[in-house]
Amino acid sequence: MIKCCNYDRKYPMAWDREDFSRAYRRLAPVYDHGLLLYELVGMRLRRYRREAVAGLHLQPGDTVVDLGCGTGVNLPLLLGAVGPTGRIIGVDLSPEMLEQAQRKIDAEDWCNVELVASDMVDYVFPPHVDAVLATLALATIPDYDSVIRTIASALPPGGRLANFEMTWPEAWPDWLVKLGAKLQQPFGVTTDLKDRKPARSIQRHFARCDSSERYFGAISFCIAIRQAGTGVNV
Ligand SMILES: C[S@@+](CC[C@H](N)C(=O)[O-])C[C@H]1O[C@@H](n2cnc3c(N)ncnc32)[C@H](O)[C@@H]1O
Repeated sequence: MIKCCNYDRKYPMAWDREDFSRAYRRLAPVYDHGLLLYELVGMRLRRYRREAVAGLHLQPGDTVVDLGCGTGVNLPLLLGAVGPTGRIIGVDLSPEMLEQAQRKIDAEDWCNVELVASDMVDYVFPPHVDAVLATLALATIPDYDSVIRTIASALPPGGRLANFEMTWPEAWPDWLVKLGAKLQQPFGVTTDLKDRKPARSIQRHFARCDSSERYFGAISFCIAIRQAGTGVNV
């Protein structure tokens, strides 16, 4: 049985690595269909993905890492941006989610996409990464701050990070947060996301960060740039 949050506590513990592995093992075959449910309630995830990839300002031939890439839903957009001479590296904890991504790669015969099964906390970035994308992935892990610091160190001056996450708007009452967490429980959404602020970490570790909210504050969207000459704020 999947361990999940205890709704009796105000801000219950997040899922750990094993919880995610178990949950996404089951979810992998239906994950892409599950995303459609969000679109149906007006959460325009496809549009946010397009905006996030556009915000990376990728050039043909660039190397981009998609952290927590899941079933590879961002791959077509990234491939369109870096072209056949570019390199895309998808990193995810769940072999089953990566299996779904690999199916897309095989079906389309994409030769410049590599998948890495790894906890993003342990992932060692290769040299010469131009940009990093993370969609619906960073806030799910408790030590997202150290991952963001590592991303900032791995990027060259001018390198970009695009990120969007589900978050709980400050103004939402507890009952609404609990209901939202209950409905999204299969995706690992827990009420303690209320305390997680990846956008604030990104602001701390990057010299420049443009952040905004979407979908009534339930999506936190962020494009960050490691500016030339300013280094990384650690
Ligand atoms: C909500 S899905 C997002 C997938 C994809 N990025 C998207 O936008 O649809 C979260 C993904 O993060 C992965 N994940 C969770 N914890 C992780 C970790 N510590 N390291 C790497 N991937 C992780 C899960 O396996 C899952 O594929």
